Amino acid sequence: MQLIDGKSLSQKVQSSVQAEVEKLKQEKNIVPGLAVVIVGDDPASHAYVSMKEKACKSVGFYSIAHKMPETITQDEIIQIITMMNNNPHIHGILVQLPLPPHIDTNKILEVIDPKKDVDGFHAYNVGRMVTNLDSFVACTPLGVMKMFQEYNIDLQGKDVVVVGASNIVGKPMAALLLNANATVTVTHIYTKDLASHTRNADIIIVGVGKPNLITEDMVKDGAIVIDIGINRLDNGKLVGDVDFENVSPKCSYITPVPGGVGPMTIAMLLSNTLKATKQFGEDI
Ligand code: GUN
Repeated sequence: MQLIDGKSLSQKVQSSVQAEVEKLKQEKNIVPGLAVVIVGDDPASHAYVSMKEKACKSVGFYSIAHKMPETITQDEIIQIITMMNNNPHIHGILVQLPLPPHIDTNKILEVIDPKKDVDGFHAYNVGRMVTNLDSFVACTPLGVMKMFQEYNIDLQGKDVVVVGASNIVGKPMAALLLNANATVTVTHIYTKDLASHTRNADIIIVGVGKPNLITEDMVKDGAIVIDIGINRLDNGKLVGDVDFENVSPKCSYITPVPGGVGPMTIAMLLSNTLKATKQFGEDI
């Protein structure tokens, strides 16, 4: 069994982003800028946003966070995004999800300029990704693809089961795997018999937020397991969706939690923001 070390890979990505930022500053006097919009007081969302801000600082980006109260209206959020769309110092815009129930998330995401959509959630980018055209791609699935590349894991013809079908993880993950010629099954809460799918999979990718959802009996010998889940147990321990202790001995490769996919998500956000900066002013 080999661990896929997301922490060290993310540091490698960050170092290369940092070097490019330095070059952009010296040669073109451009500083990549990221605007983050966060609504409400959800502690997990605030924790993610501060990690993102910290990462931006460490690679030399300019970043601003618009922290809005839960009571903000949809129109007020749209006004902020429009301002950021028109701000030439901002190259990337990210709206932290989830938004409160009185806000129409799809409507908000559609307001972001697709050229600044570093989360890859705008329908324009989703459509381009599905058709295998150059686009901004959601950071978590992009981070998983980067891991496969780094560890020389060939996806062509592999049976891959993606557990979870959200717009931000499962669906884009499935599209990227299809583009890489894998045979993809997506399971979700209405799937009748999850184990019947995972047991035959060469690769299992799970991100639903349920500790111990994937147990030893659901994984074949030699499988590759990618755990996107992040769950805080009552005892304070951070775990994924996989029973790591019992599943890992059966795997050829597995990602740990923490130190697996999590750091890759942030690294890909930096990489997407750099890409947006380099493309700034170009037609897409
Ligand atoms: N909420 C959970 N994951 C994400 C993410 O990747 N981006 C944003 N904007 N919100 C999230």
